[in-house]
Formats: sequence, C-alpha cells, structure tokens
Amino acid sequence: MKLWGGRFRKETDSLVNDFNSSIQFDCRLYREDIEGSIAHAAMLADCGIISRNDKEQITSGLQGILADIEAGSIEFTADNEDIHMNVEALLTARIGEAGKRLHTARSRNDQVAVDLRLHLRKEIEAITGQILDLQQAILNQAKQHQETVMPGYTHLQRAQPVSFAQHLLAYGAQLQRDVTRLADCKARMNVCPLGSGALAGTTYPIDRWRTARLLGFDAPCSNSLDGVSDRDYAIELLSALSILMMHLSRFAEEIILWCSWEFKFIELDDAYSTGSSIMPQKKNPDVAELVRGKTGRVYGSLMGLLTTMKGIPLAYNKDMQEDKEPVFDAVDTVKMCLPVFTGMLSTMRVLPRNMRKAAGGGFINATDCADYLTKKGMPFRDAYTTVGNLVYYCAENSKLLEDLTLDELQSISPLFGEDVYEALSLETCMGQRRSYGGPAVEETSRQIEELAEFIKEYRHG
Ligand code: ARG
Repeated sequence: MKLWGGRFRKETDSLVNDFNSSIQFDCRLYREDIEGSIAHAAMLADCGIISRNDKEQITSGLQGILADIEAGSIEFTADNEDIHMNVEALLTARIGEAGKRLHTARSRNDQVAVDLRLHLRKEIEAITGQILDLQQAILNQAKQHQETVMPGYTHLQRAQPVSFAQHLLAYGAQLQRDVTRLADCKARMNVCPLGSGALAGTTYPIDRWRTARLLGFDAPCSNSLDGVSDRDYAIELLSALSILMMHLSRFAEEIILWCSWEFKFIELDDAYSTGSSIMPQKKNPDVAELVRGKTGRVYGSLMGLLTTMKGIPLAYNKDMQEDKEPVFDAVDTVKMCLPVFTGMLSTMRVLPRNMRKAAGGGFINATDCADYLTKKGMPFRDAYTTVGNLVYYCAENSKLLEDLTLDELQSISPLFGEDVYEALSLETCMGQRRSYGGPAVEETSRQIEELAEFIKEYRHG
C-alpha cells in the first residue's frame, strides 16, 4: 500500500504509477534526503516533539540506509514514487514505530526543496573548482605568450595587434565573473525551506533556525508558501550555467577557427582531436565543437524550467517535479565540458609565427600610423583620413604601410619622419598599448597576477 493509501480504495493504475514517479532521477538526492531527515529528527527531539529514543533509532536507521545505498545493496521502487518516500518506507521497514514519527511537522514539499538546495549547493562548489582549473590553464598559457603578437579582430576583420596572452586573459575575466555569479547564486540559495510544511507551516513548536543551522544554511526562508514554491535558485543556477556555457562556446568557436588551415594559430593535441572515417588527412576539433553544441542543451534546460514555472499558482504543484531533470542534465553537461576543455587548452600547441604572420597583413597598424601623425601635431580626424588614403594607395599597389619609402610617406604628409618605421612595427604597436587593461606586457602581467590571486582566493573560499 502507498504511504498515502489511507484515503484510497483502489490501487494506482500502473501507467500512473510510472508516470507520476520521480525516483528514476531524484534517487540522486539520497544523501541530502537522509542528511535533511537526520537534522529534522534532531530538531524534533530537541523541541520535545519526538523522544530522544525515537531520534536515536531514526538517526542510526538512516545512517544504515545511507551505508547500504552507497554499498549498492538497495533497490528503489517506483511504488514509492520518489526518494523521500523510498527512504521513509525503508526506514519504517527497518525500525518500525519510530520511523513513522519522522514525518511529523514535515511534508515532502519542504523536504524536496531542502534536498535540492543542499544538492545544488554542493554542485556549485564542484563546478567552481572546475572553472578555477580552466582559469589556471589559461593562466599557464598566457604566461608563455605575453609577447606573442596576434591580430585582434572586430567583425572578424583584422583590427589592431594584441598578444595571445591578452586574448586568453579576456576569457579568464569572463570566467571570473562566472565564478562570482555562481557564488552569488549559492549565497541566495542558502536558506532553509524545512519547516514550511506542505505550505502553511505547522502547529508543532518546531525550531526552524535549529534545522537551518544543522544543515549549514544561513537562515530559514521567511515565508512558508514561498519556501515550498520557490525554484528561483534552480533557474538562477541554470542561467549562470547558460552564461558560462556561452563563454565556453565562444572560446570553442575560436579554437575551431584557430586550428583551421585558414588560421593555423594553434594545433590541438592528438589526444584532444579526432579523425575522419574517410578523409585520412583530417584532424578535427570535436571536443570544441561538442562544447559549442552542448551549450544549446544547457540553454534548453533553462528555457524548459522557466516555462514550467511560469504559470504555476502558489504553492506546490506537481509540475515542479519537472525541475530536477533539466538542472541535473545541465549540471552533468557543464561538469563534463569543463575538464575536457581544460585538457584541450593545456595541451594545445601555439604557433606564434603564424599569428605574427597574420598580424603582419591587414594593416592592423593603421590606427598607430594615425596616432603617430596626431602626436606630431595633426588633429586625429585629419590623421585618420590621411592614413585612410595611404591604406588605399598601399592596397592598390600591394604594399604594407611599413613598405612605403620615406619619400612616398612625406609626399602625403611632411610630418612623417624616420621614426615612423619604429612606430609602425607590430611589436611597438602592441607594446605601447599600456593603457590600463591593454595588451602591453606590463598590463598582461598585472592581469596575470590578479587572476592568480583570484584563483587562490576562491580555491580556499
Ligand atoms: N517527487 C516530488 C517532487 O519532486 C516531491 C514532492 C511531492 N509532493 C507532493 N505533494 N506530491 O516534486
């Protein structure tokens, strides 16, 4: 018979049984479910709602169940719908009367909410660790390429010279925000719904602060209806994960471009590439492509849960059982993508000469040429037009700016002097961009130090 069988005179249809149950996926909450129940029993005993003896039996019974689940000797059943009822049924089968007292002053509605918060809190910590590993890999590559000049792009057109370190550190900065976004999400998630009951609290003299503290929450959530209905924390996590995946996907896209023959800025390690079944020459960036592809899947989870939640009246409705699969899937996906991305990045071979060659074409020192004239006294807007004409002239004659003779340059403007060649060298153009946040070595060194500090702080925080 069902735990709730008292009011019923018929067995549940077997189709309904399968349709309604969530044990197939919420079984992953077993640890948190038991942890929450042990805290609840402790509080009930402290408040005199159950006896000390009952509490002891419940606690050791639950610990035994936990050990058996971890040993793989327990099979859950859809007849008990979800993890909460499976654990309770097992407990009662093992310890009898005391087990039946555990659900006093509690509902599955506050139970599932507490389990999911406990679980996601841990997952955030795991994901944060993985992002920090990726940042460390970025840092290691960046340190070796502070002087590696590459073209910086806008509109995917060569724009101005940057260093490969500067380019990588941009992703370092994006991931830094992902880490802090997850930390914010975790902080907001860290309130305890236990004691909200089904929706309207309880008449028992419970101590919600006690369970909140026992479970490491900052406080109990302050409204019982909200406590059982809120899934913002899952949505917020999904949106933080979506943003993270968007960053990884952009990075993946660049890696795919960079290892194409058209760019050849990098070469992926054999261990992180795949071949073709027909074209013997192929070495494909499947890892980066899959990360890019899986991004859609994480966005889908976010959209799915937002849509599930949008029309639900307060308080709990069964629709909310649909919260778990998208969050679990997104968490699993992100946790698969991050380490493989880190491995790909740490093992890739950077080809600075090809980057330098690409930076040599496309007039990426044209702004510097205009700045040169400006520093000699020409208003910037005039200098801009002058250099535009020079670029036109060069393009027509298949020359670069630095190929022009001083005579040719001076025929356009007498302000050009011998020192222009030094000013137009890409190393100068990149190295002189010392403005705060720029690609000059001084500035990438600062960024590297700051990122290293950040990683250290969050590793231990
Ligand atoms: N399996 C349910 C879920 O995941 C647990 C809460 C069920 N509560 C209820 N009143 N049916 O949402």
